[in-house]
Amino acid sequence: MGSQQDVLRGRVAVVTGSTRGLGFAMARLLGHQGAAVVLASRSDVDVAAAVERLHAEGIEVSGRRCDTGELADVEALRDEALSRGTLDIWVNNAGTSGVFGPTASTPVDDFTRVVRTNILGTFHGSRVALPVFLGQGHGDLVNVYGQGDHGPVALQNAYASSKRWVRQFTETLRLETKGTGVRVHGMNPGLVVTDMLGHVTSQRGYEHRLGGLQVVVGLWGQTPDDAARPLVDLVTSDAAEFKFLSKTTLVTRGVRNVLAGRLRRANRMPLDVTVMDSDDPDRQD
Ligand SMILES: NC(=O)c1ccc[n+]([C@@H]2O[C@H](COP(=O)([O-])OP(=O)(O)OC[C@H]3O[C@@H](n4cnc5c(N)ncnc54)[C@H](OP(=O)(O)O)[C@@H]3O)[C@@H](O)[C@H]2O)c1
Repeated sequence: MGSQQDVLRGRVAVVTGSTRGLGFAMARLLGHQGAAVVLASRSDVDVAAAVERLHAEGIEVSGRRCDTGELADVEALRDEALSRGTLDIWVNNAGTSGVFGPTASTPVDDFTRVVRTNILGTFHGSRVALPVFLGQGHGDLVNVYGQGDHGPVALQNAYASSKRWVRQFTETLRLETKGTGVRVHGMNPGLVVTDMLGHVTSQRGYEHRLGGLQVVVGLWGQTPDDAARPLVDLVTSDAAEFKFLSKTTLVTRGVRNVLAGRLRRANRMPLDVTVMDSDDPDRQD
């Protein structure tokens, strides 16, 4: 029998958007559990650097540039995995947030960018992985949820609505694959201290509303390694989803972070806010 570190030995796993943040931590975790991992993002340089880091940790790893909004890139990523012999786990992690502010003045290009990565990217990943999984009668597909997957979030409509879509899409795939041996999971990691949270763009006049973000992250933020951890249980079970937002988790983590001093100004996550001009007639500046 394999050791606890070996539960994924012999499996090949793809994680999209895995050169930093949660995706990198997920790939690293799967690799340390014995899986051969395939990394990807839109930057060749970052892919090479991330591959080198995991290789140095003894993980069997390869990578390629892949923009999940481009079907051809995602197909090539699948082929890279299959060239390792098999494809067993596919994590649609690549995601991006939109400009903070009202929908009525949201830049159209920005909304399109979020939809392209969060919605189209998740569809593309599922569309290329599932035929392989169905053909072999097994495989684990994981889609990453996020804030808004259960309901509306004002001033973050593009991101939040896209995550609601990801939830419904995932639950539908689960129905469609029932009885095939293929397992479809959703994972909401909760708040994770990554570039996505630390570099925010706001419509002018709404940036002051981001003031509380550092406090919220101080209370409930997790390291990417901690946030990635439930992934192993997901891909070794039939669980439909991992939910971060249980009351016990929130209270425990909040107390722990307060005790660790993460609410103190000096210990807060650095927050870099870029303000862009908006054409919103009701803007507050
Ligand atoms: N951070 C949080 O608190 C939090 C909470 C809930 C859910 N999530 C979800 O967790 C996932 C990862 O978030 P994160 O915080 O780790 O974000 P992050 O630090 O911004 O990292 C995002 C990763 O995705 C890649 N990426 C972005 N757009 C891409 C595209 N079109 N095609 C391929 N790769 C792309 C990025 O690399 P390039 O830019 O070089 O391509 C990077 O490697 C997202 O789905 C996010 O919605 C995050």
